[in-house]
Amino acid sequence: MGPKILVTGGAGFIGSHTVVALAEAGYEPVILDDFSNSESSVLTGLRSILGKDIPCYARDCNDYALLRSIFREHQISGIIHFAAFKAVGESMQEPLAYYRNNLGSLITLMDAMLAEGISNLIFSSSCTVYGNPDQPPVTEETPVKPAASVYGNTKQIGEEIIRDVCAAKPLKAISLRYFNPIGAHPSAEIGELPRGIPNNLVPFITQTAAGLRKSLTIFGNDYPTPDGTCIRDYIHVMDLAEAHVSALRYAMAHADVHLYDTFNLGSGQGNSVLELVQQFEQVSGSPLPYQIGPRREGDVVAVWADVQKSSNLLGWKTRRTLKEALADAWRWQQKLAGS
Ligand code: UD1
Repeated sequence: MGPKILVTGGAGFIGSHTVVALAEAGYEPVILDDFSNSESSVLTGLRSILGKDIPCYARDCNDYALLRSIFREHQISGIIHFAAFKAVGESMQEPLAYYRNNLGSLITLMDAMLAEGISNLIFSSSCTVYGNPDQPPVTEETPVKPAASVYGNTKQIGEEIIRDVCAAKPLKAISLRYFNPIGAHPSAEIGELPRGIPNNLVPFITQTAAGLRKSLTIFGNDYPTPDGTCIRDYIHVMDLAEAHVSALRYAMAHADVHLYDTFNLGSGQGNSVLELVQQFEQVSGSPLPYQIGPRREGDVVAVWADVQKSSNLLGWKTRRTLKEALADAWRWQQKLAGS
């Protein structure tokens, strides 16, 4: 039996794919998820992929007594902490709910970890901490900019809280700064499940291709980029998931009991919105209806990752192409439409 890892938010998009990557690497994941933004069907998908049930607690992560009892019962060796609210717009409307949920649960989790002597923590952070960078690609040394949203601020403050705790207590932690995760497991058993109208580009594209939305609106084509549309670093969610296993391994093997570090997780490549549309059209074999609309408030012009540090220290690199990610996202959408 491999080390047991608690995955908070393990029924979510990145969380569920990380559960697969952990199990495939010989770890034993345990899920804690309140299903406030995920579906129980994810557990069925995980069972199909892994051929076994993954233990799951359908409970709030911000529960000190529960966390301690899970840690003891399963003899947890490390935690990957995904559980958080993530809607940028909503975070501006409901700041207290975001600070309470995202930071409250993190503090409770670390309290429980210290009480039970658990010393390995992987934290979901975001490239949003870099804001609108002066010169992409961004390294981990690129200055963090004042957060543009409450959601982004919860990630920045979360990183700072963890750094301070690691300096004072025997806790090894890593913050992973995600760029834009897309795609789905190639089996189409798990994938992204946005509720309502998707905010993110790829779910909007796949829903448009499936006929659920009339047309994609590209938010602005007058940006200072080669084709005028914004540039992002899109990474296959399974590549991202595998990076969590590498980060966990790195933390567990590290001798310094006060280890704290941050790593970028992206493909290292920037693609424009129009390039994504074109690549998707090649994958699906059909033209995608789209029109150009006004810029979306708060959008960053261009950001992509320098992934040298992740590659050097974590020994991780991406293995899947943008086309594969789009093909997997499309397969997942078609499966959803058929089910
Ligand atoms: C968003 C969040 C970010 C979060 C990330 C991953 C904002 C401001 N930022 O980033 O905090 O970490 O998702 O979940 O919401 N686009 C269109 N039309 C659409 C949708 C998107 O043109 O209908 C464009 C956007 O302008 C952007 C690109 O597609 O240039 C990617 O957008 P999106 O998928 O929402 O991700 P981000 O804005 O990068």
